[in-house]
Amino acid sequence: MKVTNNNYPDVIKQLVDEMTVEEKIGQLYQAPFFSDVVTGHAFDSSSTIDHIKKGMVGSVLSVHDEKTLYLLQKIAVEESRLGIPLLFAFDVIHGYKTSFPINLALSNTWDTDLIERVSKAVAYETAHKGIHLTFSPMLDLVRDPRWGRVMESNGEDPYLSGELGKAYIDGYQQGDLSHPNSVAACAKHFIAYGLSEAGREYNTVDLSERVLYNMYLPPFISAINADVSMVMTAFNTVFDRPATANKRLLKGLLRESLNFKGVIISDYTSTEEIIQHKVAKDEAEVALQCFDAGLEIEMVSKTYMHHLKHWLDEETLSLEALDQSVLKILKLKYDLGLFKNPYGYLYDNSDQYVLNEKNIQLSKEAAEKSMVLLKNDGLLPLDKTKKIVLCGTMVDSQDVIGEWAALTKEDDVTTIFQAFNSDQSYDVTADDSEETVRQADVIIMALGESGEEAGESNSKVDLHIDEKQAGYFDQIYQWNQNIVLVVFAGRPLIMTAFEERAKSILYAYQPGLQAGPAIKSLLTGQVVPSGKLTMTFPYHQGQIPIYYNHYQTGRPYDPKRPKYRYNSRYRDCQNEPLYPFGYGLSYASFKYRKLTFNQQSLKKYDKLLVSVDCTNDSSYEADEIIQLYIEALSFSIARPINELKAFKKVSFKPYETQTIFFKLSVEDFKAYNIDMIYTAENRVYKIKVGPNSRDLLEKTIKVFDG
Ligand code: NOJ
Repeated sequence: MKVTNNNYPDVIKQLVDEMTVEEKIGQLYQAPFFSDVVTGHAFDSSSTIDHIKKGMVGSVLSVHDEKTLYLLQKIAVEESRLGIPLLFAFDVIHGYKTSFPINLALSNTWDTDLIERVSKAVAYETAHKGIHLTFSPMLDLVRDPRWGRVMESNGEDPYLSGELGKAYIDGYQQGDLSHPNSVAACAKHFIAYGLSEAGREYNTVDLSERVLYNMYLPPFISAINADVSMVMTAFNTVFDRPATANKRLLKGLLRESLNFKGVIISDYTSTEEIIQHKVAKDEAEVALQCFDAGLEIEMVSKTYMHHLKHWLDEETLSLEALDQSVLKILKLKYDLGLFKNPYGYLYDNSDQYVLNEKNIQLSKEAAEKSMVLLKNDGLLPLDKTKKIVLCGTMVDSQDVIGEWAALTKEDDVTTIFQAFNSDQSYDVTADDSEETVRQADVIIMALGESGEEAGESNSKVDLHIDEKQAGYFDQIYQWNQNIVLVVFAGRPLIMTAFEERAKSILYAYQPGLQAGPAIKSLLTGQVVPSGKLTMTFPYHQGQIPIYYNHYQTGRPYDPKRPKYRYNSRYRDCQNEPLYPFGYGLSYASFKYRKLTFNQQSLKKYDKLLVSVDCTNDSSYEADEIIQLYIEALSFSIARPINELKAFKKVSFKPYETQTIFFKLSVEDFKAYNIDMIYTAENRVYKIKVGPNSRDLLEKTIKVFDG
């Protein structure tokens, strides 16, 4: 059959015409190979070389040794019949060799420019080490910190995740996949993986169609608009079908409604796992169902390799559909420049391209901007006259990179202790004996989770800092209460007991390479903290899932009647989180005044100008993340009590006041309504502006969408 589709370059169309069915199916197979990142159960690399020679492999996962990459490519190009180059994919999630803060931490910067610079730096290292595609950004919304993978996400908000996702994609792909500094990006996991029940990894997901559209889809729409090359399916079910074999999601939603033109890939063995889900009885059915659903590349599993031909021969599946899949994959290789130069990403002495000073400095900047000051009773910033004790399990720990570390190394991390100890101007000791602790002015104590406690398949039910570390805090606290607590973690932990006792708390997440220097510059005021939480911190773990953009109930808790029983509350705990979404302190103090609109209503095609005066009431130069939320006062469906619609990160001089403007249109008020129409309806909304999702100025506006 002649391929006629005109959207593809001729060279690719001709190639598809020449390919055998087996070779076409080969392009749909992504092989694992001698990898130390093995997460599934189908690891088998013995026959991979043989398969490459036969043209039965299209891409390879997780090989990062350049010699092996070169050899595999050479075999594909020189020994397979048509010489089609392989595509090399790797999970480079927050750094290849230069580790950057974990993605959840990066999201606290609310800084699209910074994230684009970071992902550009990551792409540069990755592309110079032979890799063509990274499985990032992860766009799952997260509401449950028990789930270990929250560390890879942009937090709980659809709008913010979409904006940051776009920044990642722009940084990785740079609008030109053939550029030597860029790599292709893959948005994952489609979709709603973050809603795994009870925070348990790989668990079932249950959600309504409208929640899917209003909450979980927007970040993926943003990724598609940013031209993301690939989308990865999720392990979980959506509408009771595993996402990987879900025709309604892949063909229906992703292809037809969202017009996604790139490649759809499964997650690691998620195809064959649909047998465990009990929607397919054997591998032949798996191949049929997944292909029919619209899945192109099968990661690791070989059901396509073994069974697709049968369904094509039987004409249950069409050769035309196969050609369309192959065209998409070859187009990606073409765009990456692999047909012109299959070895283009492989360099001699490639170590010169990684871990350079510029990237190390960027990692420090990113770490400084991503940490969140949760509490400060005046101990911070520290001055040089203070006698400081540095203590706690994590104070000299290099285990602060977090999961998905690619080729970053703990040895390259500078710890808090090293950072302070190498600076003569601070009076520091690591002696935590009673006498020294009692005599100190300040105790900097670093506690938290180890890197391996978060990330894939690291769900936990207990989110407290472990007993040993908590006991250590108690001991030191008895001797000296001037404690600055620094917490390393891949997720929000339960900080309530520490909030009550520590004088200051800096949440450092897993900041990577420059952990120590970044923490030192924040604690000493060289840099003023500016990070704000993108994931709510529970007051008690029994509140989970807890997130800011929840619906109002029919019986909301009324603080004026705290003892009233028949409303939505706990007998034994407050409803409010410990720290809300958007929260984060600065050494500066910001005051918000005068929320104003340029008009009293908003009509279709109109723009509303919202302004607010923000004053830095301090002698610090500082950045503030100013947030704008809306609330529909009535609507045909229940909507969140607050929905983030805009934000600005603004630098302030000491005592400076700035008028900050936001432009809104009817689009910003829309949601899928009772009839699944995307509309703002004709309704009254509140617009709210402030420093976090709790402390907001507000004003109403009538919006007309008809
Ligand atoms: C499993 C993870 O879910 C996915 O995010 C990752 O990209 C693949 N494994 C490949 O390593």
